[in-house]
Amino acid sequence: MKNYIQADPWNIIEEGFDPKLNKISESLFSIGNGKMGQRANFEEHYSGETLQGSYVAGIYFPDKTRVGWWKNGYPPTFDKVINSTNWIGIDIYINGQLLDLATCEVKDFKRVLNMQEGYLQRSFVAVLAEGSEVKVEALRFCSIADDEIGAIKYQITPLNFDAELKIVSKADGDIVNEDSNYDFKFWEEVGDKFSDKGIFLQTKTLKTGFELCVGANTKIYIADQEAELLNHQLVQEIKFCAEEFQVAAQAGTELTIIKIVSVQSSLNYPSNELFDSCEHKLSSAVELGFDKLLEDQKNAWARKWDQSDIQIDGDVKAQQGIRFNIFQLFQTYTGTDSRLNIGPKGFTGEKYAGATYWDTEAYCIPFYLSTAEQEVGRNLLVYRYNHLQKAIENAEMLGFRNGAALFPMVTMDGTESHNEWEITFEEIHRNGAIAYAIYNYINYTQDWDYLPQYGLEVLIGIARFWAQRVNWSGEREKYVILGVTGPNEYENNVNNNWYTNYLAVWCLKYAQEAIEFVKDSNQSRLDDIINNLDLETEELELWKEIAENMYYPYHEKLKIYLQQDGYMDKEQWLVKDLPASERPLNQKWSWDRILRSCFIKQADVLQGMYFFEDDFELDEIRRNFDFYEPRTVHESSLSPCLHSIIAAKLNDEARAYEFYLRTARLDLDDYNNDTEDGLHITSMAGTWMSIVQGFAGMRIKENKLFFNPFLPEQWDSFTFRIGFRGVILSIKINKGFMEIENKSDKGIEVMVKAEDFGIEGGEKVRIEL
Ligand code: BGC
Repeated sequence: MKNYIQADPWNIIEEGFDPKLNKISESLFSIGNGKMGQRANFEEHYSGETLQGSYVAGIYFPDKTRVGWWKNGYPPTFDKVINSTNWIGIDIYINGQLLDLATCEVKDFKRVLNMQEGYLQRSFVAVLAEGSEVKVEALRFCSIADDEIGAIKYQITPLNFDAELKIVSKADGDIVNEDSNYDFKFWEEVGDKFSDKGIFLQTKTLKTGFELCVGANTKIYIADQEAELLNHQLVQEIKFCAEEFQVAAQAGTELTIIKIVSVQSSLNYPSNELFDSCEHKLSSAVELGFDKLLEDQKNAWARKWDQSDIQIDGDVKAQQGIRFNIFQLFQTYTGTDSRLNIGPKGFTGEKYAGATYWDTEAYCIPFYLSTAEQEVGRNLLVYRYNHLQKAIENAEMLGFRNGAALFPMVTMDGTESHNEWEITFEEIHRNGAIAYAIYNYINYTQDWDYLPQYGLEVLIGIARFWAQRVNWSGEREKYVILGVTGPNEYENNVNNNWYTNYLAVWCLKYAQEAIEFVKDSNQSRLDDIINNLDLETEELELWKEIAENMYYPYHEKLKIYLQQDGYMDKEQWLVKDLPASERPLNQKWSWDRILRSCFIKQADVLQGMYFFEDDFELDEIRRNFDFYEPRTVHESSLSPCLHSIIAAKLNDEARAYEFYLRTARLDLDDYNNDTEDGLHITSMAGTWMSIVQGFAGMRIKENKLFFNPFLPEQWDSFTFRIGFRGVILSIKINKGFMEIENKSDKGIEVMVKAEDFGIEGGEKVRIEL
């Protein structure tokens, strides 16, 4: 755990330069706009420890799989979002000496991530040879107002000497991935171009053939006037181009470098038009100018915060933590393109390969449903719809047939990328989360058209998978699901994981309900779907039969659902009895020992109780919570948030808050010593859920928004904003009462505890708690 980030409600602040913390800070201060993102690497050359990272959403490379022992059914490649042209580079030579913070004394170093306005700032004084001091102030952002634009303002002042500066403004496409399996380089050059608008580098991924064009326009100013150049030349190398400027600056003179960049790819433009469109985009951004681009950025972030902010009074660190999470989620995904998704580390590192996991459906959907336009949540669902055919092929590869769909555990384009048998073949619960997300989306938005348009086909594919994946046990006279891994990856190849069995049945039932719904609302569309998919009545009968006769492991004496058949055969320990020196288990114990132990990585039975809470009595939830939580090590970042929500439901406010704390500042305080690999983006949505679904108890009940709030005693109040079916609400929970303000002009009815309240457009009501 670290404690070097200064508490502030809107900013992430680091003061003083400690190279040992640099990779952590590079993750924390990452910037992005949903389409591209980058770690907070320095603009100037840096020879110290760094993970240089700049990523473009949707551009990936199928890296050849590396496994010890090949299993039939493994995907041959691991698709990963790859490090791409680094456009931030500005090397600075001062009287011949290369500015490099790893080799000079650094004073007054400060790095600030301004979350309210969406930019990264850095300032320092470098002490060079013979005591020459140079002051630098840098500001950079990836625009969310125009997600093809990035901009840098880099200001240098030689403080106590006259300097001759050589400035090399680069577009460097000769980039490697730290996690490349065989040290392959993934890019080749298509060409470069130099014009009066700037320098342009076009590169292409090997195998996948994605093309990327980066254009950069660099201008140098002294006191608002373009500086007189001693020399100006262009540098052209393989996969690299740059503009080199030489300028004289007297002591005390501030030199301002403005670098405006456009980034476009063949995902959105024909390859042969990329140079031209990138040039066109760049020249209009240059015409707008840095200040206007920054103003647009601030305004665009203000609009995002208007829809999504959470304000916590009385606890600055908690305030900083939640805003950091919301900020990073929007930097990762803005929801305008259904080909894109949310990597568990977003654009902040290479772990998890920028690929899509079940995290999106199980954790992220609720956040985007409440804080962004409806289209955003819908696009996340359409992403999976577009992968349906590949999910069917994926299932076929494993021996399923007749349109059964198994969505991948890890994917970029719908093909499975993961290759550990216990996850790839066995962690099939992800299929259920994808169906659940459809339910969740429709329940929240009432966008019933989604079912006939896209959802139903996905639900049928998933139901077909479960119907084939179960088997009849003559012994139990029930259907069973053998050889799976539940969300708890600390046991594999188990039989009858309760969560998986429960979810499978729910999927079978929900698919049938969805068919009935489309039958009533759009019979001709249903006929088309049935014909296209060759769906037989016998299949539906089988789904029903399975749903009615599924086996669920249950412990009669303890009255709890068993995580899996053999769970009680395990030696029953509690986490509190584990010496601190043995944790985290995944670093201290052999894998074999972990698998045989009763310790649970993340919510498993409780994941099911979270999804389907209305199916269970409160006492039943409490018994399961009290049994499983003490055995849970929460070594997945996705775990504490669900426990926080369930503890809140059980009115255990203290524990709800305790679990919340473990998620809210996970990265800011580097709890798990792994922030340098990148941020835990998807679990950040879980933190948001802990406040909104946990502390405020928000649900949809009787087709209305429902709240059952409490105020953690450490806070004076908290306020959050949500959008719901065209209405924006600001909800403040105070000691003893709550206030709901309807920020739109449409009325809404909400339920607080057991009472209904109508709130007109523009009205604010106070409700005693
Ligand atoms: C968790 C998975 C999750 C993945 C990506 C793993 O550690 O166990 O549930 O999907 O991380 O976040």
